[in-house]
Amino acid sequence: MRAEVCPVGAVDEELRSQLLTCWTEVSNAGGAVGFVPPVTAEEVAPVLDAVVERVHEGREVVALLRVDGEVAGFAVLSLSMSPLRRHWATVLRVQVHPSRQGRGLGRVLMEGVHAIARQRGLEFLHLTVRGGTGIEAFYQGLGYREFGRMPGAVRVAPGDDRDEIHLTCRL
Ligand SMILES: CC(C)(COP(=O)(O)OP(=O)(O)OC[C@H]1O[C@@H](n2cnc3c(N)ncnc32)[C@H](O)[C@@H]1OP(=O)(O)O)[C@@H](O)C(=O)NCCC(=O)NCCS
Repeated sequence: MRAEVCPVGAVDEELRSQLLTCWTEVSNAGGAVGFVPPVTAEEVAPVLDAVVERVHEGREVVALLRVDGEVAGFAVLSLSMSPLRRHWATVLRVQVHPSRQGRGLGRVLMEGVHAIARQRGLEFLHLTVRGGTGIEAFYQGLGYREFGRMPGAVRVAPGDDRDEIHLTCRL
């Protein structure tokens, strides 16, 4: 198995369709990447298209995970436009396709994100996790530490509000 992560600064139609399938299937498997299942590709598409637009504007970078040449997951590095915040970035939408989870690829993906961030001269990263998922343990194993929580920020369903956990990692 050959796993690699590369930065993508231009998303063509074929890659868009692969990202859309991945994001929809990860969401429908219960992944905490901006949606609550069930979702359709039509619902995910406008959110993906906004990412693609920001990628083409140079405001975001897609870190693309490929395994033996096939798209296996991705994450989005969101760069700040503020001149006071150019030394760090936020990582969004971290996901490995459900058929490939639990085999170390999430770690490979995040190490790739870190390499891309270092190449851009970034000093640290920020990301948020939906409370109640336990996923913060995944990031803690990669050097992230919690620095705060916004109580009830994520309304998964009426009556099911989750904290948003803020994590940071020095590069
Ligand atoms: C979270 C995710 C990216 C992890 O990828 P993965 O390939 O399954 O994870 P890995 O196999 O690389 O696991 C690396 C380590 O993290 C741990 N880990 C992985 N997922 C975890 C979870 N959900 N909760 C706690 N620990 C987890 C693993 O046990 C492993 O620990 P080890 O190194 O001690 O063995 C993947 O499960 C995913 O895409 N989930 C759905 C989308 C999602 O919710 N993303 C998070 C957005 S904040």
